Amino acid sequence: MILVTGGTGYIGSHTVVELQNAGYEVAVIDNLSNSSEAVLPRLRAITGKEIPFYKADIRDRAALEEIFTKEKIDSVIHFAGLKAVGESVQKPWEYYENNIGGTLTLVDVMRKHGCKNIIFSSSSTVYGDPAVIPVTEETPKGTCTNPYGWTKSMLEQILSDIQRADPEWNVVLLRYFNPIGAHKSGTIGENPDGIPNNLMPYITQVAVGKLPQLSVFGNDYDTPDGTGVRDYIHVVDLAVGHVKALKKLEPGSGLNIYNLGTGVGYSVLEIVKNFEEASGQKIPYVIKGRRPGDIAMNYANADKAARELGWKAENGIREMCEDSWRWQSQNPNGYNA
Ligand code: NAD
Ligand code: UD1
Repeated sequence: MILVTGGTGYIGSHTVVELQNAGYEVAVIDNLSNSSEAVLPRLRAITGKEIPFYKADIRDRAALEEIFTKEKIDSVIHFAGLKAVGESVQKPWEYYENNIGGTLTLVDVMRKHGCKNIIFSSSSTVYGDPAVIPVTEETPKGTCTNPYGWTKSMLEQILSDIQRADPEWNVVLLRYFNPIGAHKSGTIGENPDGIPNNLMPYITQVAVGKLPQLSVFGNDYDTPDGTGVRDYIHVVDLAVGHVKALKKLEPGSGLNIYNLGTGVGYSVLEIVKNFEEASGQKIPYVIKGRRPGDIAMNYANADKAARELGWKAENGIREMCEDSWRWQSQNPNGYNA
């Protein structure tokens, strides 16, 4: 059985679907700090399968002990963590305690129960402001601009050190680029709390009339149209990447690191245009100043995942926009009815 931490969240819920579709038994632990239990019946409706759900915190050792005693967990896919960049600047202690403290407790309980296989959600943010683009896994890690990013960078180091000290561990670090989109059913998707920080959920909320207009953060970057360029990846492709990465948890696999991106960069204005075409909705926008901590451009070289995992993103920008819109238009208030 695979334990998915943070499995009621955005990427976790999509990964549960792909794991169950591939025939894996799955259990979920989540403290619901940034997600809703309402996702569970929707997951059941998609896959037709039950999911043992534990409403618990990964910092709660006793709760983890109970899960590992009750279920036969072979591997953990570890999504649980706080992820709001701006909030992490205001609340660094809370971010380090939750993300790093939680992972240390999780890993300790895992090893005590003889489970030494983990896939960890890392981020392209660990590259900082890369000198050469596209970035490969060999690109040196950089300086993060916020505590959230540092938790990812530090956890990569911590998990690598643990694997090095005990080669029975198999560790996969997946560096996600910018996940957007939703399951084709339109019944599960990203459900941000309050005003979204990220581009696509902001656009979709403008499209349903919840927000008046998009602010484009800077049009004076050294990019083709002056707006920031990112590698947007469909969340279902990302989820499939986790299923493929399970093969790198075979005994003796050691430590493996992969970029999960499409290898294609789109600017903010290109995303707006593609979304308008896919949804038929007009997205009014204004150009504002740069957002502190933003970089001009980043996109992936994802050849290593293609070569070693047989994984490649299948969905293009059209599907990403259509699926983001289907989810938002069918669920204007997310999981809050
Ligand atoms: P999300 O907030 O939707 O999911 C994270 C889940 O973890 C939530 O359901 C939350 O309730 C849960 N959680 C948080 N702290 C917990 C704790 N202490 N115990 C138990 N559950 C806890 O976020 P997401 O977008 O699905 O991201 C999943 C992971 O991927 C995170 O680690 C995130 O940092 C990482 N990541 C996300 C992105 C992105 O753009 N969404 C990019 C790179 C990396
Ligand atoms: C951000 C985080 C990153 C995190 C990722 C996913 C920062 C510096 N980085 O990445 O650590 O892993 O989210 O959670 O915050 N934009 C606008 N208007 C908006 C929102 C965004 O113009 O209202 C622009 C941004 O300037 C950027 C692009 O859209 O050029 C994408 O932004 P966003 O979706 O927030 O992702 P990142 O900044 O790449």
